[in-house]
Order: sequence, then structure tokens, then C-alpha cells
Amino acid sequence: MLRWVIILMLVGICAGAAESKKKTVKPNPLSKGWGDDIKWVQSYGEGLSKTVKSQKPLMVIHHKDDCPYSQALKKAFVANETIQKMAKEEFIMINLVEETMDKNLAPDGYYVPRILFVDPSLTVRADITGRYGNRHYAYAPEDIEVLISNMKKAKVLLHNEL
Ligand SMILES: *[C@@H]1O[C@H](CO)[C@@H](O)[C@H](O)[C@H]1NC(C)=O
Repeated sequence: MLRWVIILMLVGICAGAAESKKKTVKPNPLSKGWGDDIKWVQSYGEGLSKTVKSQKPLMVIHHKDDCPYSQALKKAFVANETIQKMAKEEFIMINLVEETMDKNLAPDGYYVPRILFVDPSLTVRADITGRYGNRHYAYAPEDIEVLISNMKKAKVLLHNEL
């Protein structure tokens, strides 16, 4: 029984590599396949300032092109109209293939896929976690419902919850 539970709770992630293969930056759209209707910000810094200005939470998606778990999550993320609409209307959105300098975006390590929220007071919402005890900020394609409910949580300011 216990073993079954453990198997259920495993999530596929790709470990963060210290140095990934150097690629030249291509003039790709900022969506990188996560939804072309969403207005993606270009940098984490821009995301933070837009979050303050708009008072909408910032959703930070870490992913890699060569990570099959990232690709699978991306597919589910794009396929779900509810999540696309919320992302478009109620969030400042960024997807990153490179890590930022902000260690707060890696409360339990560097891996992908990894999703964190930053509220308009610029607090990284480390309290908003997915289903996996070993990787709190990882999501699998079947976790879209969890992600939607976490997006709703992210819209509630932390100090209002305490
Ligand atoms: C999005 O995903 C949720 C949770 O799995 C599901 O209930 C909903 O029907 C999906 N919506 C669309 C439009 O695909």
C-alpha cells in the first residue's frame, strides 16, 4: 500500500544542469509554445515591475526545450482553455529556459518543469505547492487542476491569508 502511494507521487522532472549547452538566442516569440495569445514578459525584472504596476501576480514557468516533462506539461498547459484564459487575463506571465539570479525562485532546488508565483508585494509564494513532496513546485500534465487551483490561491495576497 505504502509502495503504491510512493509510486503515485513520483513526478518526472529534469535535474538542473550547472552548465547547459550554449545556444545562440533565436528571435523566437516569447511564448516558446506556452500559448501565443498570452502576453509574455521578456525578463524577470520586467515581470516584477509589471506585477507591482498591475497588482496581478506573476507566474514564473521554468522549463527546458530538451526536457520531455517540460514538453508534456506545456502541451497540457496550451490545451486547457481555462488556464490559458486565466494566464492571459489575470496574471503577468513569464516562461524561462534560463535560471534567474533570484534564489527565492528555487526553494527546493533547480529543476524543470518548475512553477512559482510572485505576488504584487514581490513575495515569492513558496507556500503554493503542487502534489509532490520531493519537488514542491513540479507539475505533471495530469496536474492541470492543481495548477488552476494554485493560480486562484496566488491571487490572494499572502498577508490577507495570515
Ligand atoms: C481544464 O482543466 C480542468 C482541470 O483538469 C478541467 O476541469 C477543465 O475542463 C479543463 N478546461 C478546458 C476548457 O479544457
